[in-house]
Formats: sequence, structure tokens, C-alpha cells
Amino acid sequence: MADRLLPIIHGNKVTFEFEHPNATMLNVLGTFNHWDINSGVMEKGADGIWRKTVDVPLEGSYDYKFIADGEWILDPLNPDYGKDSRDRYNSRFQITTSASAVDHLRRIAIGLENNPPGGDFNERKKLFELADTMLQLPSAGYSRVLKNHLVERIESLTKKLTIKEDSFVAGVYCHGFAIQSAGKSFGLDIVTTRSVYGMYWDLPSKTIEGLADQFDCICASHLHPDHWDHLLMKYVIARGGKVLVPSAIAGRFPDGAVSVKPEETVDVFGWKVTFHSGQHVYDDQNKLILNYYEVLTPDCKRIVHTSDHDYTTGVKRGGDIDLLIAKAGGVNPVFEGRGKDAFINLLLHLKPNKFIAGHLNELGHPIKGGREPYKTGIEIVESARNRNGEILHWGETWKL
Ligand SMILES: [Fe+2]
Repeated sequence: MADRLLPIIHGNKVTFEFEHPNATMLNVLGTFNHWDINSGVMEKGADGIWRKTVDVPLEGSYDYKFIADGEWILDPLNPDYGKDSRDRYNSRFQITTSASAVDHLRRIAIGLENNPPGGDFNERKKLFELADTMLQLPSAGYSRVLKNHLVERIESLTKKLTIKEDSFVAGVYCHGFAIQSAGKSFGLDIVTTRSVYGMYWDLPSKTIEGLADQFDCICASHLHPDHWDHLLMKYVIARGGKVLVPSAIAGRFPDGAVSVKPEETVDVFGWKVTFHSGQHVYDDQNKLILNYYEVLTPDCKRIVHTSDHDYTTGVKRGGDIDLLIAKAGGVNPVFEGRGKDAFINLLLHLKPNKFIAGHLNELGHPIKGGREPYKTGIEIVESARNRNGEILHWGETWKL
């Protein structure tokens, strides 16, 4: 084998090589492909060396190993290795540029502009798949270029929210959605990532303040930090907006938040907001207070947001929902199935006119541990084409 160090790195392209003439199958698995046993298939050259080149778009440190006919092997020509959080030794490489991610993000922004929600889903799908290649990397929650992308997207949404005659639903981040209708803007489970565990994005205060300026009311469903944002709430309250929170945990939110009891309907600027008792499935003792909400706009649009609700017994009423916003990839104690199947069953039960597969790419969650990719949302939308479904990237708006 060549007398050099491996892997070979050029910008964001990484080439792995491994000399193993007797192996019948060789894969390179690591944090860059989620240790997915079906990924990283290497090809054997005539010289007996197996090779694979991958694009790792974000800067960061990545672990990997070879697997040759079932046997895990450290890279013998890479002096860089270390233990992971489970005390296993892995080979390691560093990517020092996010140039590839910058290109991808530009392509995504332009592509989504040309194919807005409700447009050609096949075109949108390609862009979401490209976004997954970055958002599903372990380094995503540290990435400056991804943070800058979110800032740009939030600032562009803030501008759209100033045009009060437009009616739309907008994605902010993860399961946070803005609803604008009848001249008012409501936020449901809005976060700006500053509060999210495992994320290191210090978004500028002026970006958050600018967004807060546009909200007449924001609601929070429960205390998990990927569902509410302390600073945003304080700004909204300070400028005379309303913040609605579940009564049982009202004391945990900023002063001035309005406590709403389960099954209570509150009238805010002619919008009727009802909190319902929900249940978080990843909560054996059922101690986590969680509400989901129904919103009836003054122009009679009925919107249901299931929070981190995972489709529990609370979602009773169906048949006349204009827009359902539900968590993709959730589990569900009531309807059969996990992930995609649970969502499809929820759609069969509630029969909404439109739906959004939400809670995607929450970067504070580990990969395969709650950071559901856009791919799951794509599968849901594609298997329920008759139901008019969408996924919304950060800052995207979809006409109500
Ligand atoms: Fe969540």
C-alpha cells in the first residue's frame, strides 16, 4: 500500500483506502454515515485496494472504522484515533472547511424559492434530501454556517410576517410554526435554538427580537426546551403580546405568561385557542405536563398542533381540520405502528384538509435518537398524496 497517511482529504471530499485482497466485502462506517451498515460500500481495485470517496459537507471531527466481512478494523494507516462516548476506539479525521455546505445551502435556498410549499414536491424532495446530508451530521449543532443559514431564514420570515394581509403557516425551526391570518400572527412552540440542549448557536438577540416583534401571541405546549424559548417569550410579553402556557406549569415560564387550563378556550384578538391535555410518550410515569392545541382563527380556519404529543388519546376530533401539524417519526400508544405508520394512521383518523409533517431535524437530539430526518417527512407526504401534505424548511411559508 502507498506509504502515506489516510484518509486522503481534499476540502470536503474524503477518500478512504484499505488494502485487503482477501475480503469479499468491505464498508467504511462512521459518524458521517451514521454507522449505517448499508452505507459506505467500498470498491476493490485491480491492485487489491478497496476505495471509497464521500462528501462530508460540514467541518468537524468524525469517527470511523472499516468492517471487512463482519470484522471491525481501525484504519492502520491513520495515526489519529480515540475513544468515543461508549468507550470504543475509532479512527478519526478532521474536516476543516464547510465550503461544500455553503454551496448546498445556497442551492437549497434558491431551489425552495423556485419550488415553494404546495409546488413540485419531487423538486422539493431533492432539496430536503440534500439538507439531510448536513443536518444529520453530528457536527450540525456546532456549525456556524448552519446557524447563519437559520438566521437568514428567520430574518426573511420576519419580513414576510410584516405583511399582515397575507395568510400562511410558516416553519420556524423543528416543531415551531407561525400562523398568520386575519391580520394577526400566532406562534406555536416557537424556538430559536438558543435554549435547545446540545446546540451551540448563539443567535443574535436582534434576530430574535425582530421575530418576537411580529407575534401577537405565542403558545407553549410543555417544558422541553425544543418547544419554547425564554427570550422570545420575554420580548413578546414586554411589547404587550400574549404568551399562553399550560396552567399546571405556568410558574416555570416568564412573568406575564397567561395560564390556560386543560380544555379551556381562550379568546385572544378574536382567535380561539383551546389547550387539551396530552401525553408525552417518552414519559413512563406520565408526569410530564403537556398540552396540545387547537386554534380557530377569526376567518374560521381550524388548526391542530400536536406538540410533542406523539398522537395520544387527546386527539379526538377529526373531520373538519383545515391544517394538522403533527410530529413525524413519533410513536403512538393509541394507533398501530411507529414512525411513518403512526402518522399515516393519525391522518386516517383525523382526515385533515392539509397537514404538515413536523418536528424534523431537531439538532439537539442525537441522530437515530429523535433527530428525525426530512426523509421521514418525505415518506409520509408521499404515502398520503391525497391529503395535501408538506414539510416546511426553516422560514418557509405555505398559504393557508
Ligand atoms: Fe420535541
